Amino acid sequence: MQAEYQKRRQQLMSKLGNGTAIFRSAPMAVMHNDVEYNYRQDSDFFYLTGFNEPQAVAVLAPHHAEHQFVLFVQPKDREKEVWTGYRCGVGAAKELYGADEAYPITELDEKLPQYLEKADRIFYHLGRDRNFNDKVLKHYQSLLRTYPKRGTGPIAIEDTSPILGSMRLIKSKAELELMRQAAAIATEAHSLAQQVTAPGRYEYEIQAEIEHIFRLRGAMGPAYPSIVASGVNACVLHYIENDRQMQDEDLLLIDAGCAYGYYNSDITRTFPVGGKFTAEQKILYEIVLEAQKQAIAQVQPGNTFNSVHDTAVRVLTEGLVEVGILKGEVDKLIEEEKYKPYYMHRTSHWLGLDVHDVGVYQHGDNPQILQPGQILTVEPGLYIVPDTKLAEDQPATDPRWVGIGIRIEDDVLVTSTGHEVLTAGVPKEVDQVERR
Ligand code: GLY
Ligand code: MN
Ligand code: MN
Repeated sequence: MQAEYQKRRQQLMSKLGNGTAIFRSAPMAVMHNDVEYNYRQDSDFFYLTGFNEPQAVAVLAPHHAEHQFVLFVQPKDREKEVWTGYRCGVGAAKELYGADEAYPITELDEKLPQYLEKADRIFYHLGRDRNFNDKVLKHYQSLLRTYPKRGTGPIAIEDTSPILGSMRLIKSKAELELMRQAAAIATEAHSLAQQVTAPGRYEYEIQAEIEHIFRLRGAMGPAYPSIVASGVNACVLHYIENDRQMQDEDLLLIDAGCAYGYYNSDITRTFPVGGKFTAEQKILYEIVLEAQKQAIAQVQPGNTFNSVHDTAVRVLTEGLVEVGILKGEVDKLIEEEKYKPYYMHRTSHWLGLDVHDVGVYQHGDNPQILQPGQILTVEPGLYIVPDTKLAEDQPATDPRWVGIGIRIEDDVLVTSTGHEVLTAGVPKEVDQVERR
């Protein structure tokens, strides 16, 4: 893997010109009082270094004579390591992570200027860590003040996100392997969940079955809080209480994925708790399934990112008109976004080191074009939310539809010839998700 990280740094450095890039590790996150969450490295930092400790800074200075890649890390400290775990330390940062030079993080202020004073720009993402933003700005201002003495130094700060975003958007072979594994583990978990769901069981029991598989198969854990939403709970997009007892005629919507080696999967399935759809559930389910299939068919190199969403919206709107939930001409209903009370989210997002991964969806007036190596979700849904405020020209919703929430989500790789559904192993056909 070290060769891969090095390749990424080289690729990034080829875009920095005479600039110096600074990356900050993620801060520790507090759960409560002095208890912290498991540490999760910042995705850009991890992408470029593979280094997974907090209190670190990576500097890339392509123009520097000796040190193009510098790491500032927590020094070895036997006493502290007894409490908070192993630290790589300064020496091993060079050996194991390929840094040309490494320093203790405590020396950052002293050592950083030498990597900036000949740069014409600082590449840095102004992030949520305000203290660290301040630190970078202070160095920048100080170098600006002394610029006349040298006639060199940074005169701009440029955000790193666009460069990292476009690099991370196209997955390498090694990344794809991790994505496949994340998808395979979540596929197994969802398939099991469908088998063990039954009336009388609680949503959290199914969550436990799923997350058991995640850890059992070596995933780091859930990629995001697992959504296990039965009945009307499925109409809450980010429902995570997962504490309701499931009933025979409920649908169960499960949106759960895992993180494996830092890479994420993101799957949603909806199926009948008691094994058989009601007539209304089946009608709406078939509309969503058709929307998802047609949207997935749009995932081909050369197509626009938006064509996936537009296709899903069209099929969903046609379906809503067919069953009488919407009234009017399909083109007009789409143009006026009359489907939005029932389909209020987008169909896709990029997927990778982040669940909602980096990379742009639109280039100003030009659309983002799908290219081999990109991975996106395709996740249309219909939510007949109770007490929805309807437009004046729309009919009152027949109560038989109300409270039904459905989403179907797969993770789709753009290939050179079309696409590959990485999560195709989770049942979604009607005769598969019906179990009696
Ligand atoms: N589970 C988050 C999403 O589907 O985007
Ligand atoms: Mn998603
Ligand atoms: Mn999801």
